[in-house]
Amino acid sequence: MADDFLTRLPKVELHLHIEGTLEPELMFALAERNGVKLPYSDIEAARAAYDFTDLQSFLDLYFQGMSVLLTARDFHDLAIDYFRRAAAEGVVHVEMHIDPQAHLARGVSFATIMEGLLAACREARDELDLSTAMILAFLRDQPAEDALQVLEQAGPWLEHFSAVGLDSAEQGNPPSKFREVFHRAAELGLARVAHAGEEGPPTYIREALDELDVCRIDHGVRAIEDVELLERLADESIVLTVCPLSNVRLKVVEHLEQHSLPRLIDAGLNITLNSDDPAYFGGGMRENFAACQRAFDWSDETLSWLASNAIEAAFMDEQRRDLLR
Ligand code: HPA
Ligand code: ZN
Repeated sequence: MADDFLTRLPKVELHLHIEGTLEPELMFALAERNGVKLPYSDIEAARAAYDFTDLQSFLDLYFQGMSVLLTARDFHDLAIDYFRRAAAEGVVHVEMHIDPQAHLARGVSFATIMEGLLAACREARDELDLSTAMILAFLRDQPAEDALQVLEQAGPWLEHFSAVGLDSAEQGNPPSKFREVFHRAAELGLARVAHAGEEGPPTYIREALDELDVCRIDHGVRAIEDVELLERLADESIVLTVCPLSNVRLKVVEHLEQHSLPRLIDAGLNITLNSDDPAYFGGGMRENFAACQRAFDWSDETLSWLASNAIEAAFMDEQRRDLLR
């Protein structure tokens, strides 16, 4: 990895799905180890299949891919493989969404998931000087009652979670559906974040703020369609965790050059750059920064400002934050 400005820039990742870091190489290795059959003839065929038309076409392969994750060792290997790559490109802190429902439905226990991920997080801290936080994500296309049940099941590991989140198929699954479980999460002392305004309308962003009391909006790019909402997001300094390469690969925008990012920044929003599902979208944090630098001709100052927004918005202790500032 080149020792350049973007690599050296301390990057904090606030929007990452740990299951979306599963590179085809590891997917094939785990499939072999666990005797799981994959629908791809080889690694190249898997990469070639990552040609998405929208969020759902990605989600289908994302859930398919994670079928190789069965044991605590698998979850450990998934996460440490990613942490090593991230650290090598200058990422200093990772906040990962985890989709327990996707694993519980396959007969993998909560204990298995957490044993593996927590071991990898300890190694990241001790060996890579990479800090981590966990976000318990609910699958919004599943019933709200299931989300409540997952929150219950998370009980023994609750201290390891900083927040709850909301992901998966957005259209037709408004934030208000999860009012009760987010309220319960707040009572338990967890922060709240939610995907909103990726494919869904700006009203979903309002709902996430008003009904789920979130401190960050994941994606949120469709806020650009609603001037009043933009003003509110700026006034309340709500953080948007924008994922440029994801938005291009899932056809939220056709070309990065057309992305609303520069206009969102001009509107005074608290913007951060993130990688979402780097194994599927063609690049990690460094490449997301680099692609924006190329597309928008951003100065080092703008790129540093984006990185520092994420440091300020992260779920990390103040000692760590001071160290990274
Ligand atoms: N959007 C919604 N759900 C997801 C995503 C995303 O970008 N990645 C993984 N689950
Ligand atoms: Zn996401």
